[in-house]
Amino acid sequence: MENKFRIEKIVAREILDCRGDPTVEVDILTKGGSLGRADVPVGRSTGKYEAFELRDGGKRYRGRGVLKAIKNINAVIGPKLIGMDVTRQREIDELLLKLDGTKDKSRLGANAIVGVSLAAAKAAAQSLGMPLYQYIGGPNARILPVPFLNLINGGKLAATELDFQEHIVVPTGAKTFSEAIRMGTEVYHELGRILEKKWGRHSLNVADEGGYTPPGMNDVRQAFDEELRAIEELGYTDKFALALDVAASHLYDRKGGVYLIKGKKMTREDLIDFYKELVKTYPVASIEDPLEQNDFDGFAELTKELGIQIVGDDLFVTNAERLGKGIECGAANALLWKVNQVGTLTEALDVAKLAFDNGYGVQVSERSGQTEDTWLADMAVALNCGQIKTGAPCRSERTAQYNQLLRIEEELGASAKYAGKNFRRARLKIKQQQ
Ligand code: PGA
Ligand code: ZN
Repeated sequence: MENKFRIEKIVAREILDCRGDPTVEVDILTKGGSLGRADVPVGRSTGKYEAFELRDGGKRYRGRGVLKAIKNINAVIGPKLIGMDVTRQREIDELLLKLDGTKDKSRLGANAIVGVSLAAAKAAAQSLGMPLYQYIGGPNARILPVPFLNLINGGKLAATELDFQEHIVVPTGAKTFSEAIRMGTEVYHELGRILEKKWGRHSLNVADEGGYTPPGMNDVRQAFDEELRAIEELGYTDKFALALDVAASHLYDRKGGVYLIKGKKMTREDLIDFYKELVKTYPVASIEDPLEQNDFDGFAELTKELGIQIVGDDLFVTNAERLGKGIECGAANALLWKVNQVGTLTEALDVAKLAFDNGYGVQVSERSGQTEDTWLADMAVALNCGQIKTGAPCRSERTAQYNQLLRIEEELGASAKYAGKNFRRARLKIKQQQ
């Protein structure tokens, strides 16, 4: 009998992400008739050490076309993968690495490689008649993540005067994921009402990740004050924490060795002191990229001093070598997990394991350029990592992820567990309860 898991056909195409930029979509068809379709997300506030995203250049789509990556899939990768067993994820990913042969995946493009890697996983899950979260995570995949809802946008992802990129609310006090989404969305709407009144109706324009854009707001404390007001108005005071993605690499002036904030220079020490004050004044549970992407020592100092979750995004770029370096010196205590920063699912899963094995948390994350594909939501449950960051609860590419998590919660029924206050150690806590 023919093996139904055999890869029969691979087709890649150019589609659009939520910002109207082209990105890669890959279909993998198996002999048994299963289809795995995966879309590749796109970063804008990218880290320097990410795997290479291949763009066409030239006039078409302002140089942002991905036809070269598509061609690499259809002409180079496809013929080699046909006939392989789609459930052999590691073998497939190793072949992709071999075909590319570069350290940063610049020959075939990380966007080509990651599309194929994820499409294979989806096709395998399909062939086995399993949901993706279960295929990747096994029978114990059942922790619903705390959503990190980015309600006010700044930095590179919004036309605001806010230097910091993401001002996030975290419904840690909900009992279930669906309750968390309801509470978070209520806060989102209440915040809209408050911002409109005080900062004007243009506040309600939303940025790349669906967060509001209050004109004239230029300080993280103003954003936090308004978010806390919305939370308090609804009577949710103890049920929410706050979080930040500073994306500090984009505020750093390498030549001068200083950060530029509100048009003023701040040294690394000034910034560290600022965070200490901020954490004393506000219920901040997590800060991502508080310092620039090469400052491992600064990250280590902050991690020790602040006692909250410190997440490495541009710092680690989902890369084992960089995370290993961080683990050695105690830089950050959580990894932001973005599959396309590294390029294959296998590598990304290995990096997550490295983080867990060393007591680091893992936060599954969108890119600011998403599509309506929902593999991200499944991965958050598969990893039992307890936390996901995928923007505000509006704009379809964001709600697609939250809606998928609602479906997974329903499917898991009584065995679903919401990570809640334990989001940093969700796996450990759940194990202790078993
Ligand atoms: P991205 O940034 O634009 O690279 O996706 C989001 C983030 O910094 O977390
Ligand atoms: Zn980030």
